[in-house]
Amino acid sequence: MTQDELKQKVAQAALQYIKDVPVIGVGTGSTVKYFINYLADMKADIEGTVSSSEATTMLLKQAGIPVLDLNSVGTIEVYVDGADEITPHKQLIKGGGAALTREKIIAAASRKFVCIADGSKRVDVLGKFPLPIEVIPMARSYVAREMVKLGGQPVWRENCITDNGNQIIDVHNLSILDPIKMEQAINNITGVVAVGIFAMRPADICLVSDGENIVTF
Ligand code: 5RP
Repeated sequence: MTQDELKQKVAQAALQYIKDVPVIGVGTGSTVKYFINYLADMKADIEGTVSSSEATTMLLKQAGIPVLDLNSVGTIEVYVDGADEITPHKQLIKGGGAALTREKIIAAASRKFVCIADGSKRVDVLGKFPLPIEVIPMARSYVAREMVKLGGQPVWRENCITDNGNQIIDVHNLSILDPIKMEQAINNITGVVAVGIFAMRPADICLVSDGENIVTF
């Protein structure tokens, strides 16, 4: 199976978690794109969605699926999103698509976070994928210097402005042995809007397509 076929397969597997769920949180990325295609087929049963990015909002609207403001929704029952890395403890790196801050907000506001990914995203230790950090633009160099102190090599993701008007640095060569501690340490750097470690609020269920099988943990 190609990677795209694996993404499509795992996106389909997420449908079992949204039966009778009126409002669904929807993540961002190529795996979620397949999930949105499936949502389009069942839109009559959905009251609405809460979107994690302008790109996802556009796809949802094109599919005729209502997009609601999180402020008017309260707790979201189920949030479905992809990831760049997933550990056996369901801790994640996210933000490859620069949507990490809104994704983190939706994850925090959701009862159940269902993470969908192809098998290439499974790791034992987070950090091989460069860690995305959304920063206030004027703080970019300062945050980068602080990340060097934490052992990483920051690279500015040039030509990328987030949906919140901020910038992204991708931090290479971090071996994140204690994801909660690292998440807290980076959150404490002034100028950081959000870091792409999802450890304090990990996924609740991970679905990973591994060849013909969907592994659930
Ligand atoms: C976007 C994300 C995505 O979930 C992550 O990058 C995975 O994307 P894809 O499904 O395209 O592999 O965190 O900010």
